[in-house]
Amino acid sequence: MASTAPTSSSTRVLSGIQPTSMSQHIGNYLGATKQWVTMQHDHDVFFFLADLHAITADPPEPAVLRQRSHQAVAQLLAAGVDPEHSAIFLQSHVPGHTQLSWVLECLTAYGEAGRMTQFKDKSARGERVSVGLLTYPILQAADILIYQAHQVPVGEDQRQHIELTRDLAQRFNTRYGDTFVVPDAFIPKASAKILDLQDPTAKMSKSLPDAGTLNLLDDPKVLTKKIKRAVTDDGTEVRFDPVAKPGVSNLLVILAAVTGSTPDAAAAQFDGQGYGALKMAVADAVVAFAEPFAARVHEAMSDPGELDLILARGAERARPIAEATVNDVYDRVGFVPPLARPR
Ligand code: TRP
Repeated sequence: MASTAPTSSSTRVLSGIQPTSMSQHIGNYLGATKQWVTMQHDHDVFFFLADLHAITADPPEPAVLRQRSHQAVAQLLAAGVDPEHSAIFLQSHVPGHTQLSWVLECLTAYGEAGRMTQFKDKSARGERVSVGLLTYPILQAADILIYQAHQVPVGEDQRQHIELTRDLAQRFNTRYGDTFVVPDAFIPKASAKILDLQDPTAKMSKSLPDAGTLNLLDDPKVLTKKIKRAVTDDGTEVRFDPVAKPGVSNLLVILAAVTGSTPDAAAAQFDGQGYGALKMAVADAVVAFAEPFAARVHEAMSDPGELDLILARGAERARPIAEATVNDVYDRVGFVPPLARPR
């Protein structure tokens, strides 16, 4: 799929993240949010918290979900997503997402949904899976198509979902006439893929043991300890070589991403020094980034009224666009429009 280069301010960009934890980890930030921050200046951007998606597997306690949603907004703000440039909103505040999802579900074959990896892997492992997990990618397609988004900045793991979104857009357009923009995934080629510190063959993930995950809201002491205990490789030389030295290379990727350098340039600084010096430098750089980030999150969290206001404004920008798409789709499908009566 083409990762078309950003073009102009009329290019609409949309992305979402699930509020599934209290803290973003550094992989979420470098892989997603950081990208959003750079895109917001020259595109028409919509970023939302996928709270509907967050109950598809192991729904959290209601109070926990509410807090995670607020935490997630505070973290977007702390990362530099600016509500003056970006519409920031909650998926559950815009009813059109589920309204459109239903129509798209009816265009999706059961087997097609069942072949999506997330669902297939979980069911294969014998885990309890909900119908919501089966239809998860279809709701995601609705999230995107409802805004007529051109570009969807996501990580590599979302490629299959964007493919389905494109298929559904084309299927609808063929059957009912041109309605949807067929969106492109925007997967930056150089997107930093951050690996787990304890298992540098796996992507850093909140579902792996905590020791391998650098949460941006971890205490600086905890961050430092996790980095010092990171798995390294045989030998002593600090060199960027993801195949022979996955652990060391992952640390170099993190260091480079946080300091705005490249892994090779970062490695060159440690000529003649060992892994200890590298870990020290990574810990310092990560803490220097995470500490002010956490302070900004706490400040934003101290004013929940302001967070709710930002979400209300975001939803006010999103809702008319979503409503127009749903009206158009319902009309094309053949639902009789409700008569608007003067009150
Ligand atoms: N599935 C995405 C993830 O887990 C989150 C998401 C939901 C999303 N809807 C979206 C991403 C729409 C991009 C566009 O990361």
